[in-house]
Amino acid sequence: MDIRQATVSDLLGMQKTNLFNLPENYTFKYYLYHAMTWPELSYVACNPKGEVVGYILAKMDEENTEIPSGHVTSISVLRSYRRLGLAAKLMRQSQHAMNHLYKAHHITLHVRESNKPAISLYRDNLGFEQTGVEKGYYADGESAYQMTYKFNKD
Ligand SMILES: CC(C)(COP(=O)(O)OP(=O)(O)OC[C@H]1O[C@@H](n2cnc3c(N)ncnc32)[C@H](O)[C@@H]1OP(=O)(O)O)[C@@H](O)C(=O)NCCC(=O)NCCS
Repeated sequence: MDIRQATVSDLLGMQKTNLFNLPENYTFKYYLYHAMTWPELSYVACNPKGEVVGYILAKMDEENTEIPSGHVTSISVLRSYRRLGLAAKLMRQSQHAMNHLYKAHHITLHVRESNKPAISLYRDNLGFEQTGVEKGYYADGESAYQMTYKFNKD
């Protein structure tokens, strides 16, 4: 499996994977905005045929710029490629770029309260902590956990 930085030609494959996996979908323009603004932060996992089977779409926080922080907009892996360590690898690549290129102090993301696999990925595997709850965050009314990863735990 090939894991590499996403390019503009991967964006349709990322969008397709997102549509398969998650109800939170984005316009193509939004993918393009990520790729043009923070090209080093989004990654894809491709199978031997070169098809996108997983992705991480990530950005830097544009509102609170005093302390630079990264934000994971979306991450997902197609069902038949799960539990191979792809999501963890995609996240680590993006984390590394956020920290080294953008000097991020921490990373935030939202996850559905009911999304046990993703919560386990973030908390147990990657070292994120739950730092808040946003009631009714999702369009269907489900609440989100806000999860944060701190680069320098001190
Ligand atoms: C969540 C998701 C991205 C994980 O992708 P993945 O490539 O299968 O994850 P990895 O193989 O890298 O797993 C790393 C760790 O995450 C945790 N994890 C992943 N899937 C899990 C599951 N189904 N149940 C429990 N823990 C799980 C485990 O700690 C795992 O480590 P282990 O395999 O050594 O036990 C994938 O299940 C997915 O795409 N789900 C649908 C989309 C989604 O929910 N995205 C997140 C939105 S916030």
